[in-house]
Amino acid sequence: MSDYVDFIANIKKKTGIDLSYYKEAQMKRRLTSLYEKKGYRNFKDFYKAIHTEKKLLEEFLDRMTINVSEFYRNAQRWDVLDKKIFPELLSVNKKLKIWSAACSTGEEPYSLAMVLTSHIPIRDIAIFATDLDAGAIERAKVALYPERSLKEVPQNVVKEFFIKDETYYQVKDEIKRTVTFKQQNLLNDKYDSGFDLIVCRNVMIYFTEEAKDQIYKNFSKSLRSGGILFVGSTEQIFNPSKYGFESAETFFYRKI
Ligand SMILES: C[S@@+](CC[C@H](N)C(=O)[O-])C[C@H]1O[C@@H](n2cnc3c(N)ncnc32)[C@H](O)[C@@H]1O
Repeated sequence: MSDYVDFIANIKKKTGIDLSYYKEAQMKRRLTSLYEKKGYRNFKDFYKAIHTEKKLLEEFLDRMTINVSEFYRNAQRWDVLDKKIFPELLSVNKKLKIWSAACSTGEEPYSLAMVLTSHIPIRDIAIFATDLDAGAIERAKVALYPERSLKEVPQNVVKEFFIKDETYYQVKDEIKRTVTFKQQNLLNDKYDSGFDLIVCRNVMIYFTEEAKDQIYKNFSKSLRSGGILFVGSTEQIFNPSKYGFESAETFFYRKI
């Protein structure tokens, strides 16, 4: 068995995370550069160290998850969400059940809440947000961001929903209260159902075709008929009908 195959088995035993669902070449490259930087020569030695050093395990998790995010990521898509998708969904339900899946450090669910405030009263907004990485979720709850995370946010939204101190922008409590965070592994854990909108962006690119197939099937089951899946701007689904979806707008799929 190859060094990497053993590593995958050991990591699965230790953490429950199954690296075989992530694209191999990409994941191997990222992890090799980490262990080389730390002075290990192969996956075997790297695992031995991870097994005993909690800090190294955290660094491994941090490297494999890639938490890069920003508010209103691909702003044009958020405009479509605002002008077309939310009005369509709200014409059916006045309160929407929304899930930001793989929410990273919170920019995405907070953006959803900010956009929704121009459609419904803030007390009616409830967003469920999940990620594999517990550390990212803790940062999401703190909700402090550097200026570069806000570069796509309209100025009036910055004024309304952020408090600026010297270096960081703090999301106001009224927005923070609309989001409930929870740790969840999209590859293992059970999904909730009855969603009007599922937002899952910039994570499918890391998964194998087999893993993507399973996740799209699960998302389809979790959406109500007429509900929408919003994907990342490099993550078009090539055969949406296989999952019971039709294209609603570019990067938005409607459950039939
Ligand atoms: C690049 S970020 C995307 C954040 C946000 N959705 C966006 O588009 O800006 C990818 C996130 O996927 C999470 N992730 C990776 N594997 C996951 C899994 N199996 N289940 C849930 N989240 C996962 C990572 O922890 C990371 O926070």
